[in-house]
Amino acid sequence: MDDDMNRTMRAFRLDGRVAVITGAGSGLGREAARVFAEAGASLVLVDIDTDGMERTAVLCNDAAATIETVDISDRGAVDDLADRVIAAAGRLDAWINCAGIGYMHPLFATDAERAAKVVAVNMMGAFWCCAAAGRVMRERGGGAIVNISSGGGSAPVPGVSIYGMTKAGVNSLTWTSAAELGPYGIRVNAVAPGWIETPMSSLMYRDERGEVDPARRQALIDHMEQVSPLGIIGEPADIAYALLYFASDAARFITGQVLNVTGGAAHG
Ligand SMILES: NC(=O)c1ccc[n+]([C@@H]2O[C@H](COP(=O)([O-])OP(=O)(O)OC[C@H]3O[C@@H](n4cnc5c(N)ncnc54)[C@H](O)[C@@H]3O)[C@@H](O)[C@H]2O)c1
Repeated sequence: MDDDMNRTMRAFRLDGRVAVITGAGSGLGREAARVFAEAGASLVLVDIDTDGMERTAVLCNDAAATIETVDISDRGAVDDLADRVIAAAGRLDAWINCAGIGYMHPLFATDAERAAKVVAVNMMGAFWCCAAAGRVMRERGGGAIVNISSGGGSAPVPGVSIYGMTKAGVNSLTWTSAAELGPYGIRVNAVAPGWIETPMSSLMYRDERGEVDPARRQALIDHMEQVSPLGIIGEPADIAYALLYFASDAARFITGQVLNVTGGAAHG
């Protein structure tokens, strides 16, 4: 019985594995780092926010956490990062794409420069990360890539426009990469979170000056609780556990999937 139990628990652990986590300086990426560290992984934290990553590294206690200040929209920098990970650690088992930027404006109010940035980071950044991770994992004989999508990538949500479009791209990237990389032992899946309170998602209740509007915040929380059959809102750990599952051997027979983690709501 003990051996069976240990085998089950081992399937969900990442002891001795190396995981890259982008967007690790805040929100869902930070929580993913904490959870992956608890699961035994050595971490490579990636973000443009170095101070944020330093705070994340503290939460990871004594798990080996390397900090890499890299802009994921820069293809060359992402390629170099993947090579550095292999040179330093000799392996790369999981690559978790949490980095992203929010943008909530209706079609007619979309700023061209900002829209280009959202596409460059959310969609092309995830693309370059999948390509770089796939390249080095293929040489090593396998691995797991997990992307972060969003409900707006597969359902109509007013105001989500360009952001949702990038997440639809992430879904497509997940399916295509899974098909292309599967023969090399590389699994590619995505998690589509419901609304989780983070610096990014607080955009939805901030006023024009960027200040938190407590009434709007409470109205949003009430709404999100109502649209979930469970009557609750999610926490960063709910997303991190789904990311861990996909990264672990427990999901060895799963690839090309986009999992809604929304408390049963149709979308986040
Ligand atoms: N919070 C939610 O409700 C929610 C819902 C659905 C999807 N998501 C997605 O989850 C992911 C994480 O979001 P979050 O809520 O934790 O946001 P967040 O703003 O707290 O964290 C995002 C992190 O990405 C980093 N980042 C931004 N641009 C980067 C770049 N070019 N290169 C490297 N790092 C960069 C930021 O510095 C930040 O640390 C995003 O992809 C987001 O679209 C979030």
